[in-house]
Amino acid sequence: MENYISNSVDETDKIAREIASKVPKGSVIELIGEMGAGKTAFAKGFAKGLNVKEIVTSPTFALLNTYDCGDGSKLYHFDLYRLEDIEELYLLGFEELFYSKNDICLIEWPQIAVDILPKHKMRITITKQDANRRKIEVENI
Ligand SMILES: Nc1ncnc2c1ncn2[C@@H]1O[C@H](COP(=O)(O)OP(=O)(O)OP(=O)(O)O)[C@@H](O)[C@H]1O
Ligand SMILES: [Mg+2]
Repeated sequence: MENYISNSVDETDKIAREIASKVPKGSVIELIGEMGAGKTAFAKGFAKGLNVKEIVTSPTFALLNTYDCGDGSKLYHFDLYRLEDIEELYLLGFEELFYSKNDICLIEWPQIAVDILPKHKMRITITKQDANRRKIEVENI
């Protein structure tokens, strides 16, 4: 397990960029943290670390935003907060994305989909410690 402390959005961005540069393609990452913890802020930096050039926005309403990493691989950024039933993921054809070997999945609010996620994955947990201070833990689960 790796631990980081962030004292600002910029620091979270930098930490996320650094983590992204070390994550192998095919990784599925649960991004855990309460509302406003900084999951989407983390995702923005993470995308930069994967060479995504587009502006990353929260996929709360879309469930999924897809970004090009410029090397033929993609970043799938999910936010499952509004998902009511995992059936919906099947209907949308999203579940196969969790098993795509060449791409990376970063999933906010993954709890509802835990049964259909791959066995081996990463978990990044962001804990709010203060108005601007966050603990960021990275583990393989
Ligand atoms: N060190 C920090 N790292 C990240 N965000 C921070 C930090 N300090 C303060 N913030 C603030 O916390 C908020 C994080 O919002 P963000 O949308 O990233 O949260 P989230 O975890 O994605 O929430 P949600 O569950 O609603 O999607 C922003 O308003 C940001 O400015
Ligand atoms: Mg978010």
